Amino acid sequence: MYLSSVLLLPLPPCYHGNVVISEVPAVATLKKEPKTFAFDHCFWSMEDSNVKFANQEIVFNCLGKDILERAFEGYNACILAYGQTGSGKSYSMMGTNEQKGIIPRLCDALFDQIKEKEANDLGFKVEVSYMEIYNEKVRDLLDPKGRHNLRVREHNILGPYVDDLSTLAVSAFQDINTLMSEGNKSRTVAATNMNSESSRSHAVFSIIVTQTLSDLQTGVS
Ligand SMILES: Nc1ncnc2c1ncn2[C@@H]1O[C@H](COP(=O)(O)OP(=O)(O)OP(=O)(O)O)[C@@H](O)[C@H]1O
Ligand SMILES: [Mg+2]
Repeated sequence: MYLSSVLLLPLPPCYHGNVVISEVPAVATLKKEPKTFAFDHCFWSMEDSNVKFANQEIVFNCLGKDILERAFEGYNACILAYGQTGSGKSYSMMGTNEQKGIIPRLCDALFDQIKEKEANDLGFKVEVSYMEIYNEKVRDLLDPKGRHNLRVREHNILGPYVDDLSTLAVSAFQDINTLMSEGNKSRTVAATNMNSESSRSHAVFSIIVTQTLSDLQTGVS
């Protein structure tokens, strides 16, 4: 089963705040015709002195925490950031060193929870993969020599997957951060009129958490 959150960023933050759209139905008027759409939260982040300003922590508490809880329950979970160039997708997902985005916060919380939950009979393994899709070609961002294109295949039970994509084991957010920074260096980036460092590709960062419960008496896991 897949759970997802969509982080929809309609206009660059200099014009609007960030909007998260997912579950509860609402009605809006657009070019005279009423449209029905759904959203759980609406964030505004233009001026940090304003009381309604939503910082990265507020966005994470509304979005990332639940996703992490569901992941520990065994569900596949996905956050998709969607919006035009310069609207704040990279900022919301990655952020800066001072204003960490959803991914670093999620990873920090993930490793904190693993530390809390780990026991003699319960172990965790965390692996990551990172790829970009650009001009319909898929590239492995964690493979320093991975300039070649990877193939998307279909598994008869698990569905589509990227053949030969590297998955690397990590034990702390610092490991993930180093891998992502290396990966980001290989991302296709260019200037647009609205963003001097625009990510021209789609990037998919996956975290695979495996929980192993063992019976200490029989050794069965
Ligand atoms: N909520 C925010 N608060 C402060 N600065 C922001 C916010 N959102 C975005 N920015 C800044 O706006 C600029 C553009 O944002 P960003 O690079 O995240 O856009 P993007 O949606 O990833 O665009 P592209 O599709 O071109 O990659 C960046 O300099 C970023 O730091
Ligand atoms: Mg970007």
